[in-house]
Amino acid sequence: MGENKFPRGFLWGGATSSQQIEGATREDGRGKSIWDTFAAIEGNIEDGSTPEVACDHYHRWREDIDLMSGLNLGAYRFSIAWPRVLPNGSGQVNSTGLDFYDALVDKLLEAGIQPFPTLYHWDLPQSLQDQGGWASREIIARFVEYSQAVTRRLGDRVQNWVTHNEPWCIATLGHEEGCHAPGHKNPTESLAVAHHLLLSHGHAVQSIRQEVPGAQVGIVNIHCPAHPLTLSPDDLNAARWFDGFFNRWYLDPIFKGKYPEDVIEDRRAAGHLTSGELPFVKDGDMAIISTHLDFLGLNYYSRSVQQKGPDGNPLPHIPVPENELTDMGWEVFPEGLYDSLKRVHHDYNPPQIYIMENGAAYDDPISPDGSIKDDRRITYYQQHLLAAQRALLEGVPLKGYFAWSLLDNFEWGLGFAKKFGLFAMDKTTGNRIPKNSAYWYGNVAATNTVDAPHL
Ligand code: FCB
Repeated sequence: MGENKFPRGFLWGGATSSQQIEGATREDGRGKSIWDTFAAIEGNIEDGSTPEVACDHYHRWREDIDLMSGLNLGAYRFSIAWPRVLPNGSGQVNSTGLDFYDALVDKLLEAGIQPFPTLYHWDLPQSLQDQGGWASREIIARFVEYSQAVTRRLGDRVQNWVTHNEPWCIATLGHEEGCHAPGHKNPTESLAVAHHLLLSHGHAVQSIRQEVPGAQVGIVNIHCPAHPLTLSPDDLNAARWFDGFFNRWYLDPIFKGKYPEDVIEDRRAAGHLTSGELPFVKDGDMAIISTHLDFLGLNYYSRSVQQKGPDGNPLPHIPVPENELTDMGWEVFPEGLYDSLKRVHHDYNPPQIYIMENGAAYDDPISPDGSIKDDRRITYYQQHLLAAQRALLEGVPLKGYFAWSLLDNFEWGLGFAKKFGLFAMDKTTGNRIPKNSAYWYGNVAATNTVDAPHL
């Protein structure tokens, strides 16, 4: 059995988000979020479920922290629900909403688990959406106001802060493809949304540092390496297109203070921009967006293989049949994590990197003996951790790893059908049931070691 030790102090964590696990959407003064609205519209959530109860974490959070302690985790990435803190998005702070996170942070610290809150993991207050949401520049001041309300309450105990989770998903899935809240299909709008997310991030970084001396601040981006199907110039161009649209559109502004020219040209050619100018960029914006970060959070699930489609445009995703697919239809491709880490380190050089999400959806039944034998998830984790370790040994400043997810939860437009958890949840009782991967991951965290795949 291979000895694959990680460096001393490497952080092992679990990740969740508020809308996906909390439930209690109408309790203690919480306002409505865009996902409450989106999920209530018939046909938007594949299995017809809603996040109203979700994992009932709002009531079972103590038990969930105990689960993490049982796995020897040293860190927990969760998100704060903006509508709990500011039910109307702005103005009156709901201190009862903040009490919840206050108590959560205290118990985490008591358990020796470092809190890594994310300020925005997609649950925008509906009242801000009614005023234009992320498409409106006004939202930047609202986001800073919200971040101040949170940091003033938790900043005496919380050191690590994430501003946004995956701006690409918010802009593209929410405003271009329409399969996420608020369900818009407007590519031009999605470009403004992306810019306002990045700008609000930069302002929030500055404000968090003012409120929390010594804070470590970062953003979480999803990273997806793009591979051409063949080495034909057309397929190579399709891969360049995808990489630009998915990865560089976010990393370049954050680390280099500019948007990539080739993507501006792609967007102009597609009719999403009327000229080579970005009308939503004002003087000084790029300097704020590229405010120095303490870390980059990188989420990795899979790669994308690209080819030129029949209409001349790139085809966004082609599953590769010879490789295994998870229940999301995503190819299992651990080398992509190694490549992503190396690339981000080489091209952008963030001072520290955390893998803030990585995991796989598989639906495995409860065996007669009560266990859940999710060998495929264990293999997925093993292979990805070994890929991450290779990058680490080659000098990538990787500081920690957060498994997505602690428990099966509300997987956005796909509802509860897609299961990413280390723990399953009994739908009727809400009880948490450890999968074999939970025991396996707990052992990784306890020994700081990942055995070579042996299944
Ligand atoms: C990421 C999201 C997370 C979860 C996983 C599967 O894009 O950040 O909330 O849905 O995908």
